[in-house]
Amino acid sequence: MTALSRRRFVTTAALAALAPAVPAWGAQGAGPVHSPRDDLVRLDYNESPYGPDASAIQAMAAGARQSGRYEYEQQIRLGRLFASQHQLPVDHVALYCGSRSALQCALASYAGARSVVTASPTYDSVASGAQALRATVHEVPLTANHAHDVGAMLAADDQAGVMYVCNPNNPTGTLTPDADIRRLVAEKPAGCLAIIDEAYIHFSDAPTCLPLAVEQQDVLVLRTFSKIYGMAGARLGVAIGSPALLARLEAFNGHNFVPLPTVLGAIASLENPRLIAQRKATNRQVLANTMGALRKAGFTCTDAQANCFMVNLGHPVEPMRRALAQRGVLVGRVFDAWPNWLRVTVGNADQMQRFLSDFLALSPHASSLV
Ligand SMILES: Cc1ncc(COP(=O)(O)O)c(C=O)c1O
Repeated sequence: MTALSRRRFVTTAALAALAPAVPAWGAQGAGPVHSPRDDLVRLDYNESPYGPDASAIQAMAAGARQSGRYEYEQQIRLGRLFASQHQLPVDHVALYCGSRSALQCALASYAGARSVVTASPTYDSVASGAQALRATVHEVPLTANHAHDVGAMLAADDQAGVMYVCNPNNPTGTLTPDADIRRLVAEKPAGCLAIIDEAYIHFSDAPTCLPLAVEQQDVLVLRTFSKIYGMAGARLGVAIGSPALLARLEAFNGHNFVPLPTVLGAIASLENPRLIAQRKATNRQVLANTMGALRKAGFTCTDAQANCFMVNLGHPVEPMRRALAQRGVLVGRVFDAWPNWLRVTVGNADQMQRFLSDFLALSPHASSLV
């Protein structure tokens, strides 16, 4: 491949990857499946740069061989293991094909006639799912410290059907104090569901809200294997709540269950006692180095404790996103509420080095980029 055609290919592939989160399946035709290019630095979807643990990959391969059958037993085994490791009653745990599915079932069950209160910016699947149900959505700006503004969320609608808290928050990576989350749960309207999304909790030192999902009736905690476990493509989410709440959600899930390779991979991941601590420490080090370099160069970053953070460019980020993509570095989409802040996923050390050198090289000219 010549230098020119190679560069054109990189640019085309990079721009294609700027497409919306949900691919337009119909438009793609029946062409070959392309594997991601090795030289693209993918810091756009808060995925793990490390992928599944080696033990999980081995277990998933074994699961693939046994996939000719409906295998409920292994799913039950996984539910029991998750429950015992997290000190939960086993009937408070349900598995979904991604926590996004559990979230959508929760919205379908609790929102529609009643509104949804969420933060801004936050994980946007909440607002889009609520809008699909024609529910009113109240998007409440984060506080100056980038926490959820619980007082304003409670004041948004005293008849709300769902209040959603993402801790640590996507896209900012920032934390909301435990006391504030407890206040939201204590003061939310009667019959309102509090969803506490802990997709990124493993990267932080924040206390978990899992006990609240056992103590209270209308509290749902969500976990995922997509982030620290590196299994985004395998699709596994966990919903934790009272049996009555889980039954309400399950009615919308239609008793679907998780693919066997995924279940076996998740069991292997949970059985590796070092996985979380190792990945948390690595992420923390790479995040600190990256934000340290950006701050030294004069940029403000969010106080992130996750595998993503935001950096303030002081002007709209879209030109920088495009310029980075042309160099093969993909970063998060633009968040309308924070148009000047770029969301960056924490990749591995080499990827972040590449991001930093391209970002810093481009930044003096960023406002004049096209
Ligand atoms: C806060 C949050 N919740 C849930 C999800 C969805 O995770 P899953 O892959 O388990 O559907 C994401 C994915 O990015 C997320 O950022």
